[in-house]
Amino acid sequence: MSKHAVRRAFDRAAVSYDSAATLQRRVCELLLAELPDTPPTAILDAGCGTGYALGLLAARWPNSQIVAADFAPSMVTTAGGGICADIEALPFADASFDLYWSSLSFQWCDTRRAVTEAARVLTPGGHLAVSSLAPGTLAELDIAFAGTDGHRHVLRFPPADALAVACADAGLQAVQLERRTLRFHHDTLATLLRELKALGANQVGAGRRPGLMGRRTWRTIEERYESLRELAGLPTTFEVILCSAIKPIS
Ligand SMILES: C[S@@+](CC[C@H](N)C(=O)[O-])C[C@H]1O[C@@H](n2cnc3c(N)ncnc32)[C@H](O)[C@@H]1O
Repeated sequence: MSKHAVRRAFDRAAVSYDSAATLQRRVCELLLAELPDTPPTAILDAGCGTGYALGLLAARWPNSQIVAADFAPSMVTTAGGGICADIEALPFADASFDLYWSSLSFQWCDTRRAVTEAARVLTPGGHLAVSSLAPGTLAELDIAFAGTDGHRHVLRFPPADALAVACADAGLQAVQLERRTLRFHHDTLATLLRELKALGANQVGAGRRPGLMGRRTWRTIEERYESLRELAGLPTTFEVILCSAIKPIS
């Protein structure tokens, strides 16, 4: 999926996004729990989306200056303002922030470029806190769609340790990586796909393909997913990575 397509998909999703963002909320809370209590002076929320983390960060550190950035203009607007920018090429001077925060945006980016930029804009002694997704995410969707229409329906997520390796290569220290498996349930496949689509992640949500495929193919996919049904409903798994690191003082 090209960067242009990702940006367009998220730009269209800004309004419907918040109702579908249980995963995002849960992950932001987990990432926040990883951070030390010391109040940062300036925080960057890179890939802020509709701005859920902004409230959390402001509640924890009411006196810190928080800058929101996202490359989808309507996300920046919905977040209540910020900078429209690509997290792989940030428009900020070196050493501008003592907390670099990014939740569930790195899976759309080139990990190395995004981490290099994060390290550049961090002040010496500043913290990085990033969450992303690892292989195994939406494995059920992969199983259900396998071989049905020649399209890939789930993003190719970088291996879990790619983030930690990129941090170490960018000169960051005290790199810590944690994995959490989060599972959600839905009543029907249609609701599940609608919700994933509302996240702006068209490819993850199988995009427009279900509408274009024949009824027989669709039924096969539904039957396969039904075979995975649990008491709580149709499961979706997210393999979440939480990464923290510190920029050395010298
Ligand atoms: C799944 S949402 C997460 C939003 C938010 N961080 C949250 O936790 O709710 C991913 C966001 O990353 C943004 N994004 C993806 N790639 C980006 C890039 N290269 N530069 C800036 N923003 C990007 C998208 O526009 C979208 O708003």
